[in-house]
Amino acid sequence: MKPVVSGNMVTKPFFVGWDPKDAVMDDPDNHIERYLDKLTRMWIDPDAAKRHLKKKGNPLVYEVYEKEIPQRDGEIQFCSSITHPGKIGTEYFMTKGHFHKRRDTAEIYYCLKGRGFMLMEREDGEHYLLEMRPGRTVYVPGDFAHRSINAGDEPLISLAVYPGDAGHDYGSIETSGFRYVVVEKDGRPEMIENPRYGRMLE
Ligand SMILES: [Fe+2]
Repeated sequence: MKPVVSGNMVTKPFFVGWDPKDAVMDDPDNHIERYLDKLTRMWIDPDAAKRHLKKKGNPLVYEVYEKEIPQRDGEIQFCSSITHPGKIGTEYFMTKGHFHKRRDTAEIYYCLKGRGFMLMEREDGEHYLLEMRPGRTVYVPGDFAHRSINAGDEPLISLAVYPGDAGHDYGSIETSGFRYVVVEKDGRPEMIENPRYGRMLE
């Protein structure tokens, strides 16, 4: 089923299936895949990412399935967000993370599968790390950059829902990073200061 958006941008009613087994949207309009080779600078140890590429190949770190909805006020965007299990050095696989282009827009993540965290950080430094597990919905308020982190051994899968005109701003996080990162220490996840904060592109 394709014609969600007609030429004059009128949204028509539609449905989308959700596979109860793999917890992922069926029949998406877009499939976004992020492989490690395009994400080498987002880790606290970019050299570990390069070593991983050399020795273990180029894993799919995360992916998104989404319907194409008009990007305007009043509409609702929704997608399947899948962060795969794995680590670069001690740092868990995670999404790039982003602010919304319209900064004041919120988002909810309803976790369907897996174990991990939602890291949220405002420009003034206020930050939160909330655990994600099946059945839990995390509310990300406006003005918070957000990133999913998989601290388990199966895919971390959520249904994400956000305003139609929210948009994505990846640039700020690509440049500065988050102030905090989550690493595995003594077999457990721990939030530590990001030693590369403010210079992720170096
Ligand atoms: Fe978002």
